[in-house]
Amino acid sequence: MFNPNSPQARDIVDLFFWSMVIGGVIFVLVTGLILYSVWRFRGRPGDGEPHQNPGNRKLEIAWTIAPTVLLAIIFVVTLSAMRRIDPDPAGQQPDVIVTGYSWWWHVEYPNSGVVTANEIHIPVGQQVLFQLKAADVIHDFWVPELGPKKDMIPGHPGNTVWLAADEPGIYLGACAEYCGTQHAWMRIRVIAHPQEEFDEWLRQQASIPAAPMSEELVRGAQIFQESTCVNCHAIAGTNANAQAGPNLTHVGSRLTLGAGIIDNTPENLGQWILNPHAIKPGVQMPGYNYSPADLRALVAYLGSLQ
Ligand code: CUA
Repeated sequence: MFNPNSPQARDIVDLFFWSMVIGGVIFVLVTGLILYSVWRFRGRPGDGEPHQNPGNRKLEIAWTIAPTVLLAIIFVVTLSAMRRIDPDPAGQQPDVIVTGYSWWWHVEYPNSGVVTANEIHIPVGQQVLFQLKAADVIHDFWVPELGPKKDMIPGHPGNTVWLAADEPGIYLGACAEYCGTQHAWMRIRVIAHPQEEFDEWLRQQASIPAAPMSEELVRGAQIFQESTCVNCHAIAGTNANAQAGPNLTHVGSRLTLGAGIIDNTPENLGQWILNPHAIKPGVQMPGYNYSPADLRALVAYLGSLQ
């Protein structure tokens, strides 16, 4: 959050900074006065009862009014920042719908029908409206460099948040509400592209993957379709259309697997399929005991889904 990359993230850091400055000055003042008094008016042997001071009306009025004024200023500044950071979408349709699952993110672009997971691509320099939903328990969507965080609450699909990125790049985020065993590995990557590159990415993701060309890829596709993979995952253009796990239509184009826990390499994907619990204990996906040749074919097929 200390590297803000959007107007709203800068607003948040400014608010935080000035609240810290005001709080810091008061802290130093109060602590300093206490330490000074302890030292200056310390008891010495032979001292009698200290002078009893029943009160000082001027001082009491001053230290009631000063904090009231200070808090009123912070209140007004906070309120105006909140209105800029989190404006009412006023009926505007979301650009991206993100749904929190234990422990990954379902990502949908309603205008183009693109569905992906964990990695969210956005065009640079634009305010992007996110609708935030939850499939099971409460999650919290937070990409600190790009905007505020917001809860995802089951049965309360109306939460929205605006994110923007001033510069192209990869921005990391995470679930910010404890949601079970793998809460810490519920990572988000937001990839901000120049508009043209983003349009190209969206076109690519909206396309249906080409039919497998080589014998091994055909075998891999067949293994996928005949295994229980299809009970949870979807691949556009095939019979697999389940929603319980991440959509795999273009899984080969993603950077990581398991919501950010490992890099998306053929070797890692193979390990993940054999025993995902060794990598991410508690994950909902069971392990599968494929022969080395079958595993190679399946990994090659999934990797080919670019
Ligand atoms: Cu999802 Cu913590």
